[in-house]
Amino acid sequence: MYGIINKSIEELVIEKFGAPIWEAVLLKSGVGKQIFLSNEAYDDAVTYQLAAATADVVGIGIEVVLLEFGKWWILHTCQKRYGSMLKTGGGNLTEFLMGLPSFHDRVQLMYPKLSPPQFKIERIVDQHYKVHYYSKRPALQEFMRGVLFGLAIYFNVDAKVELMQSRNQGFDFEIFEISWS
Ligand code: HEM
Repeated sequence: MYGIINKSIEELVIEKFGAPIWEAVLLKSGVGKQIFLSNEAYDDAVTYQLAAATADVVGIGIEVVLLEFGKWWILHTCQKRYGSMLKTGGGNLTEFLMGLPSFHDRVQLMYPKLSPPQFKIERIVDQHYKVHYYSKRPALQEFMRGVLFGLAIYFNVDAKVELMQSRNQGFDFEIFEISWS
């Protein structure tokens, strides 16, 4: 994945736990001391190793790391660095979700080697949607759930996000339900 993802994990860990903990995470991950370049593509394994090492060093579950990272990704990294892109994604959560299937098409203009997730949105009733999530990468479900929470916070709504089906249960893709009042 592009280095911006690893850089975002680094910023999250430093902000919440401090620079010495980040040094310990780099060491533990086996990735070693390095500066991540936003526009360079890194092996996916680097991101997984950083998330796993954060969980180990801090003493929390990797699901918690991925969930918090998803929120951080939207509320810090994307809002700070790609604010205008988020704005053009929609004026409220419903509009944003409707545009989600094509959202990474725009990201791809900036990151040509992107291997983005794909989405399909199904309306159940207003303010209650199914989000079909297709990814070639395993084990990022909690990251995705965190991203949806982050979007809800970004749009100032108190949303419930539930994982309804998963590849872990033998399905081909994940379905989340997101609802708010
Ligand atoms: C300005 C906003 C955004 C930017 C710049 C962005 C960019 C990226 C980048 C660079 C990656 C790494 C993929 C790669 O390098 O091949 C990625 C992955 C991902 N993005 Fe986005 N993204 C944005 C918003 C979103 C939103 C709104 C969602 C979902 C609601 C989302 C869901 C994901 C997921 C789940 C992945 C993990 C990869 C996978 O599942 O295969 N992103 N994104």
